[in-house]
Amino acid sequence: MDASEEIKIELRLTEDGSHTLHAAMVDECYHSTHGAIQESMHIFIDAGLRLMHKKELTIFEVGFGTGLNAFLAAQFAEQNQCDIRYISIEKYPVPVADAQKLNYADCIDPAQRTFFETMHQCRWNESYRLSPHFELKKIKGDFTSYLHTDTYDLVFFDAFSPEKQPEMWTAEVFGELYRHCHSGAILTTYCAKGAVKRNLLSAGFRVEKVPGPPGKREFLRGVKNEN
Ligand SMILES: C[S@@+](CC[C@H](N)C(=O)[O-])C[C@H]1O[C@@H](n2cnc3c(N)ncnc32)[C@H](O)[C@@H]1O
Repeated sequence: MDASEEIKIELRLTEDGSHTLHAAMVDECYHSTHGAIQESMHIFIDAGLRLMHKKELTIFEVGFGTGLNAFLAAQFAEQNQCDIRYISIEKYPVPVADAQKLNYADCIDPAQRTFFETMHQCRWNESYRLSPHFELKKIKGDFTSYLHTDTYDLVFFDAFSPEKQPEMWTAEVFGELYRHCHSGAILTTYCAKGAVKRNLLSAGFRVEKVPGPPGKREFLRGVKNEN
């Protein structure tokens, strides 16, 4: 994909009743067609955020996209009184008008619709405290050349597939992430590919395969060992 290209997206319904987007340029959906919310909850919240047992943490996300992972993390932050700084990079932002058609707030908590829309409306490259326990910074940029300035407790690695975007899944970019993770940090991704596992291992992560949500046998989770 080329940064100058307008991303062509189409709204689709997944099997749990929540929306996803289909991106024509990579001919892929942003989430599992078996259920977008179900997948994000399982892989990023339950197998990542819920294991942190910290009252204050910084999350880095690769691919802001629909904002679903950020939205779920924000709900978690308020429900668990856990202070989250959420930094998310995106090269091809979803237009606000398209984001407003997504039904995540309707599926999760209709009272949070304004919050969801504000996440999309707020400016790129600035930090916003959107609720008492949740701060969001969306970075408009290319992850493969991003120079990290923060250190992370948790990484939501949610790029398009390694078949379509191999440059996002290299040992080098994982190495950069590893260097910017605190010891004990977790990286979670929907992918279960052997080549990705090897690249995570060579970057320094301890890697395990974890049982996946419905429709997906397993996925990968990396941990930076405690010193
Ligand atoms: C599988 S989608 C997931 C998005 C998001 N996490 C969500 O739940 O909607 C992958 C995302 O990575 C973004 N992306 C693709 N190439 C990128 C790059 N080089 N740097 C940053 N983001 C990129 C895409 O535009 C898309 O939003």
